[in-house]
Amino acid sequence: MMDEDAVDTTPEDERSAYEKAQEGQEDVDPRTIPQKLEEHPPIGEEIDYPDYPGEDHETWQILVERQMEQLPGRACDAYMRGQEVLGLEADRIPHLGDLSDRLSDATDWTVAHVPGLIHEKDFFTLLSERKFPSTNYVRPLEELDYTPAPDCFHDIFGHMPMLTQPDFADFYQLFGQAALNAEGADRPRLERLHWFTVEFGLIREQGNQRIFGAGIVSSNEEVTHALSDEVTVHPFDPEHIVEKDDYEVYNLQDELFVLDSFEQLVDGFRDWTESRGLL
Ligand SMILES: [Fe+2]
Repeated sequence: MMDEDAVDTTPEDERSAYEKAQEGQEDVDPRTIPQKLEEHPPIGEEIDYPDYPGEDHETWQILVERQMEQLPGRACDAYMRGQEVLGLEADRIPHLGDLSDRLSDATDWTVAHVPGLIHEKDFFTLLSERKFPSTNYVRPLEELDYTPAPDCFHDIFGHMPMLTQPDFADFYQLFGQAALNAEGADRPRLERLHWFTVEFGLIREQGNQRIFGAGIVSSNEEVTHALSDEVTVHPFDPEHIVEKDDYEVYNLQDELFVLDSFEQLVDGFRDWTESRGLL
């Protein structure tokens, strides 16, 4: 007799969307291969500030300024306020240690400096401890519009402002906890939930759709594309999202999901994970 709580053993594809997209590619960029953390990464004030060459600060400035031309009126209030809470500026790459202090004051999150893309288990463990893994590497100018590597423009400018929003901050910790417990087909299901919320989420504010996903706010093309008629927008529904296995990781998104509130994100995520026995 089957135990209802048994691990799901349906023969679904358990590869991540990135693994599927990379299949058959001859030259895999070494920056996109996840590394296993050998030791505990530096957190907060343990993090050193690199001796960046001037051109890195210039790249940061170009990236920030061109996004800021587009974000007001398109990014949600919580994201815009989060930038102020963090004290993000265009003319200098921020110190991860300073950002960690500000996040800690706002929502009790801190920043962990990691060398690049890290192994899933390390990533989920850090999230479950309210530590946001960030690199301090800035993409080169030739990769201004798109870089396959994790870089600090995406990590800092894309992700960190939302971690100052209390409901979102709680949701992201829950996500880490659930992901550590997930096995089998629940792993790609959680990956899809991450994709359509943390990376490409929309939220309704005063009747208008606004962006909050890090993959949108940090992409020059996605900011306008995500709010255009070219995108089909569905109401946020974890059951719908987890079964959506046909999204693109390297192209503009043609389907997105919109929240009514960040409370809905925490509650909806908690209900779904509890129904799967993940929390
Ligand atoms: Fe991201």
